[in-house]
Amino acid sequence: MAVDSRGEPRIPIDEATRVLVVTGAGISAESGLATFRGAGGLWEGHRVEDVATPEGFAADSALVWRFYSARRTAALAAQPNAAHRALAALERRIGDRLLVVTQNVDGLHRRAGCERLIEIHGSLFRTRCTHCTRPPFADEALHEAEVPACELCAGRGRRAYLRPDIVWFGELLDSDHLGRVEAFAEQGPGRRLVFVAVGTSGNVWPVAGFVDLAASAGGETWLVNLDPAGNAWRFDRVVRGPAAELLPGLLGVGE
Ligand code: OAD
Repeated sequence: MAVDSRGEPRIPIDEATRVLVVTGAGISAESGLATFRGAGGLWEGHRVEDVATPEGFAADSALVWRFYSARRTAALAAQPNAAHRALAALERRIGDRLLVVTQNVDGLHRRAGCERLIEIHGSLFRTRCTHCTRPPFADEALHEAEVPACELCAGRGRRAYLRPDIVWFGELLDSDHLGRVEAFAEQGPGRRLVFVAVGTSGNVWPVAGFVDLAASAGGETWLVNLDPAGNAWRFDRVVRGPAAELLPGLLGVGE
């Protein structure tokens, strides 16, 4: 394993390397945001089916909007941490040889300055109509008391509700996003591919399978996670610990 001058592990990134990064809720844990699984996680207090499926929204839209309004409030109050900043610093150094794919909807990568970013599960801060094809729009409003209705549909005499622009269970990921990830893994800039997963339990597909995509494209695969992730055996290297502490050193962009 490559190490730095203090003998700490270092992900080997040179001018011929492209870096595909996948992040999950663990990268925002040190910003104070709850992860999904485990004690105190978001899925402990809520049934996934109630707040993260189209059927749950149809059954109780007000409950779903209260859940996402609380998450908007928490994400707006949080600040990017050293791990988000390390990825933004790496982007400034290697430019389009970096692609960050986040499962997080909290907006913290973008606020840290990361632009080569795919928010593959959507964003807490976009809303869309459940009926019409108007593009998703920026929205930080809290809808705690009432379920918002689409005013464009209302103008056409139809009552349709707005919903968070988040990919729920049972829904498909954007095929353009998946195509970009595959193209980057297989023939992105730079001769060598390194894949890094950070703060994700490896339970949710297809993102949990990106490590296999990277490995079959000849990539060296790294996992940086607090606990042993469900798919840890798929990785070449596993570094256990908190992302905000480890990532600046691992990426060689120490603060
Ligand atoms: P999880 O809550 O499943 O997993 C978070 C992982 O982060 C766990 O394996 C923790 O060990 C690890 N972790 C916690 N704190 C950490 C820290 N400080 N540093 C490093 N690692 C840490 O969250 P995700 O894997 O992101 O989907 O979950 C994936 C998807 O499942 C989410 O995007 C969401 C959820 O259901 C949707 O809502 C569609």
